[in-house]
Amino acid sequence: IRVAVVFGGRSTEHAISCVSAGSILAALDPERYEAVPVGITREGRWVLAAGDPSRFAINGRELPEITSGSGAAVVLAADPTATELTVRDAAAGVSGLAGVDVVFPVLHGAYGEDGTIQGMLEMAGIPYVGANVFASAAAMDKEFTKKLATAEGIPVGPYAVLRAGVPLSGADRERLGLPVFVKPSRAGSSSGITKVTDWADLEAAVATARQIDPKVLVETAIVGREIECGVLESEAGGPPEASLLAEIHMDDADWYDFETKYLIGTRYTIPAELSPELTGRIQEYARRTFTTLDCAGLARVDFFVTADGRVYLNEINTMPGMTPTSMFPQMWAVTGLAYPKVLDRLIRTALR
Ligand code: DAL
Ligand code: MG
Repeated sequence: IRVAVVFGGRSTEHAISCVSAGSILAALDPERYEAVPVGITREGRWVLAAGDPSRFAINGRELPEITSGSGAAVVLAADPTATELTVRDAAAGVSGLAGVDVVFPVLHGAYGEDGTIQGMLEMAGIPYVGANVFASAAAMDKEFTKKLATAEGIPVGPYAVLRAGVPLSGADRERLGLPVFVKPSRAGSSSGITKVTDWADLEAAVATARQIDPKVLVETAIVGREIECGVLESEAGGPPEASLLAEIHMDDADWYDFETKYLIGTRYTIPAELSPELTGRIQEYARRTFTTLDCAGLARVDFFVTADGRVYLNEINTMPGMTPTSMFPQMWAVTGLAYPKVLDRLIRTALR
């Protein structure tokens, strides 16, 4: 089975996507799969990124990147004489993938996890791993995730949506209270997020988030534990399956920011020490979020749990981090499904 692993991309999560793809390329069983590594540069060029996948690891504080030079020969173009495809020609790049059996879009964030590449793959009729166009777009956008989840009775914390150019109203300040988290509505890996403990700092935080997305969310900071759940589509066509839960321990970190996620590393417990009732409730919310958004393949659903047992959905990721330190593969490993088996299952469900 020829699997195109597409990674990198134009989002703020370019580097994390490279690390995720490095793990996947290393774990795909070469007896069963012929991996075709396709990197997308920050500028949107598609390059064939052959070679040792271990070069996509985080090295100290140095993050990996796909550049035109780092790809060997180039690519999968409809025009075989092309040496580079600019983003204008990405459609040609996708149709050039027609020779592969399945695409694994290991892209986090904009132009990858948000329905854009999924739409191109649909147009080209190429099977792919993970969520479809709608689910990807809805899950990428924290506003619509919350609205859809709320409609299904999944609790979310207090929040306000600031559309382009709109400031937070005085009434919303009162309602939300401090501290708040200010986030780009469509981003990931904590990019562009600021914790605000003084309203005097709000404007700068909104400006930071708007560098990534003109639409910004302001959320009440929920004091509680950070709990995550992996979800996989059922192979038998039944309801999705939830993994054991992970708890992220903040230790010295104030919150789960980029540094803590990828550079310092996070301490975690799997399975999280929660009562069976609470565990079951969170797993049920995770499955329901997956189903409500029409997800497919995989997702990681993140929650806050307060000391008095209230659960709030934080967000869902339709292409969760797959790096060696990422929660999704670790939760499934403890649940009994090792990384290569998770990949087998994702490819099988994509091809079904
Ligand atoms: N957005 C990052 C990759 C995650 O959810 O793991
Ligand atoms: Mg995310």
